[in-house]
Amino acid sequence: MAALLDVQDLRTHIFLKRGVVKAVDGVSFTLGEAETLGLIGESGSGKTMTGLSILGMPPRPAGRIVGGSIRLDGEELTELDERAMAENVRGRKIAMISQDPMTSLNPVFSIGSQVAAPIRAHGLGTGRDALDMAITELERVRVPSARDRARDFPHQFSGGMRQRVVAAMAIACKPRLLIADEPTSALDVTIQVQFMDLIESIQEETGASLLFITHDLGVAASLCHRIAVMYAGRIVETADSATLYSNPAHPYTQGLLESLPRLESRRKRLFSIGGAPPNPLELPSGCSFHPRCPHATDRCRAEEPPLKDLGGGHIAACWLNED
Ligand SMILES: Nc1ncnc2c1ncn2[C@@H]1O[C@H](COP(=O)(O)OP(=O)(O)OP(=O)(O)O)[C@@H](O)[C@H]1O
Ligand code: SF4
Ligand SMILES: [Mg+2]
Repeated sequence: MAALLDVQDLRTHIFLKRGVVKAVDGVSFTLGEAETLGLIGESGSGKTMTGLSILGMPPRPAGRIVGGSIRLDGEELTELDERAMAENVRGRKIAMISQDPMTSLNPVFSIGSQVAAPIRAHGLGTGRDALDMAITELERVRVPSARDRARDFPHQFSGGMRQRVVAAMAIACKPRLLIADEPTSALDVTIQVQFMDLIESIQEETGASLLFITHDLGVAASLCHRIAVMYAGRIVETADSATLYSNPAHPYTQGLLESLPRLESRRKRLFSIGGAPPNPLELPSGCSFHPRCPHATDRCRAEEPPLKDLGGGHIAACWLNED
């Protein structure tokens, strides 16, 4: 698969009075055409900040991309100014489905006009045409009676239907890359499953690449071709989903895997990774995972392990993989 998105050594830092949070600290990955990459990790590991950096939207004014490269189809996005990002990239080539649909929807405008807004803004349709295109997108995300419901307002939709509307807005301008940030975490379980099926079929129909952000390794493994695991602002392991699931090389990934509920161990207590994610203002020396790692040695406490290529696209940053 040719790389549509190529992120190299991305660094996004947040400058606070108390210090600097290195929210994204040297992240590299590629995403192929029509490929799905899962970005997983615990709360605070830098997943959202990675997604927002790709959109050119680190939290202002404290957040800034301080280094690295983000290439979409060969175009360097970090060199574009805000106007070029807003006019040509965001919503047009890259779109995001966020966790809370209400933050993406305006309560005072009808659903139809909101889905038509990016179509009009990017000059893909005007007036009645734009509204018809919006209705087609609402049908694509399986909003029943889309033509009638386009006249309704967000509060007249259920949570699951609102999330579908946000998905329709995201795909309205046929973006090459979709970023979905925990899109199902506000939904109940049955609706979550339906929404995941919908994302899968949207991707098949549109051929868009998908960066799927989640803290749930099980969800990522079922949906994604490949998975990148983040810890404290870095990617610590990347592999295709089957390899990551059957043969994780990083103790953190192994811990995430052991924390997954499994049918055969339904009655046993679930394993959870001991300790808490590190304070981002005072990251541990060496390997940031060492205070929680059952295999930590003096070397781990002193030296940061580099990412090592284990073959077949499997890479991991852990001294255990040194031969
Ligand atoms: N607006 C902000 N101001 C200051 N620090 C922030 C801000 N947003 C995020 N951070 C910090 O940046 C780091 C990465 O945050 P990020 O939101 O990317 O994590 P995440 O992996 O998406 O977590 P979650 O699973 O909770 O969504 C964290 O240490 C977080 O506290
Ligand atoms: S480098 Fe050391 S501390 Fe870090 S994950 Fe590997 S064994 Fe554990
Ligand atoms: Mg997040």
